[in-house]
Amino acid sequence: MKSFRFCVFCALLSALILWLLRYSESSTCAQSPAAPVSFINDVAPILKDYCFACHDAKKRSGKYEMTTFARLIAGGSNGETVSPGKPQESDLYDLMVTNEDRRMPPRKDGISAVPKEKAEIVRRWIEQGAKLDSGIDTKSDLVKELRVRWQPPASPTQYKFAMPVTALAFTPDGKELVAGGHHELTVWNVDSSKLTKRLRTRAERALAMLFHRDGSLIVAGSRPGQEGDIRVYNLQAAGKKEGEVIFLDGVSDPQVFRKQLLDSDDSILCLAISPDGNLLAAGGCDRTIRVWDVSAGARRAKLEQVIDNHADWVFALAFDATGERLLSCARDKTAKIWDLMNRESITTFPEHQNNVYGVAWSKDGKKAFSAGADHVLRQWEAVPQGKQLKVLGGHNEDILKLLSSPDRLLLATAGADKTVKIWEAETQKNTKTLSGLTDQVYSLALSPDGKLLAAGDYNGEVRIWNLADAKLVKGFNASPGIATISKK
Ligand code: HEC
Repeated sequence: MKSFRFCVFCALLSALILWLLRYSESSTCAQSPAAPVSFINDVAPILKDYCFACHDAKKRSGKYEMTTFARLIAGGSNGETVSPGKPQESDLYDLMVTNEDRRMPPRKDGISAVPKEKAEIVRRWIEQGAKLDSGIDTKSDLVKELRVRWQPPASPTQYKFAMPVTALAFTPDGKELVAGGHHELTVWNVDSSKLTKRLRTRAERALAMLFHRDGSLIVAGSRPGQEGDIRVYNLQAAGKKEGEVIFLDGVSDPQVFRKQLLDSDDSILCLAISPDGNLLAAGGCDRTIRVWDVSAGARRAKLEQVIDNHADWVFALAFDATGERLLSCARDKTAKIWDLMNRESITTFPEHQNNVYGVAWSKDGKKAFSAGADHVLRQWEAVPQGKQLKVLGGHNEDILKLLSSPDRLLLATAGADKTVKIWEAETQKNTKTLSGLTDQVYSLALSPDGKLLAAGDYNGEVRIWNLADAKLVKGFNASPGIATISKK
């Protein structure tokens, strides 16, 4: 029997997609049969969802590429697939609805058939002459065209379902906590646990957030499997006040959405900033680590280095105290150290033999810590060879996040076991276990004064603890309209 390794991250992403589907159900609008069908708005999204996976420029199954209009029309090894005006003679349509074995997507791959009402849209488009919308070049990349046209939905005023909290950050004054919501960031007053601001985002999810010293908020966003971005926002912009809450439009208000640093084909999963605030690093599903010089401000970021050091998704990054070395970890089961000065890989740590979700440095920069899907926190020699020094247990399930205090004396680990653990970096002792969350812990943040630790979980719950005595000081649900779940 095949054994499936449980991948928390994949589970998270698929949960998010399911969640999105629940939300989008009500938004599909019926089209009247006579209405003209637009290729780019109506047909291309269907082809993207059901066909592009095997018929893009890389795979070209049956020598058929569908990701530009010109190639879609040119057809594959058997010639043209579209006869304008004659859907029944067009393979592009016929293969979607046929009962024969030739059906597309292929039955054997276990991909579900194109739903009838979607195939019907393709049929009508062919019947109407299979035209391309004006203003689009026949050679332009349809994936990019679709991305440009895509508009984020408005966030629900009251959530019907709680949204997992996949990113958290305290504001520089420590008075507020920013949490990732559904196509928005929500801002909470730490003293009162009240919602103060909602900032709408193009990204469906925020997967990492940090503040630059210029006060701007840098967010790594994602539409799982569709696109990823890094955007710079101004939380202090005026916005619109409704009741107690200020609404900020981070999609189209240039006072709020200040700059896009990256636009990617898939999720950006992590961000890190060097201790002097001059370098910003990001990594994600494209396996690439990018480093920007942000010394002149987040909006004036200059791409400095593009690092291809991992064979799979990059989950976390950490600069050393000098900003000269970058620790990273990935789904390729390794943690690595990159020398930013000489632009070379200097150490690879392979002991986890499973996804590595978090990394941190020791105070002296001679040792590194990493943690992941093997449930343990490992300490190893950063130089010269990545020799393992210690294996620290205690979490019963995957460790999903690892955070280090700015002075590098404390480490915090977030577990799929619903707990957060605090470790003394020098003695490697687990000094505290913070409980009160209700499900897998996806995000961690430390207040700028180092006194409070916040964590968010799968159920949208946020807990804030006082680090000195491990006391729970605040608890709320970060999905507006969802009541907090009291501790089980
Ligand atoms: C899981 C992969 C996969 C997906 C998804 C898929 N195809 Fe295919 N397709 C193939 C393969 C493999 C071939 C070549 C072998 C064959 O004809 O069965 C092919 C061939 C074709 C051909 C014939 C090309 C030629 O000239 O020989 C057409 C037309 C086609 N696909 C249309 C579609 C459409 C339309 C969709 C989406 C509704 C789709 N395919 C989705 C794998 C896929």
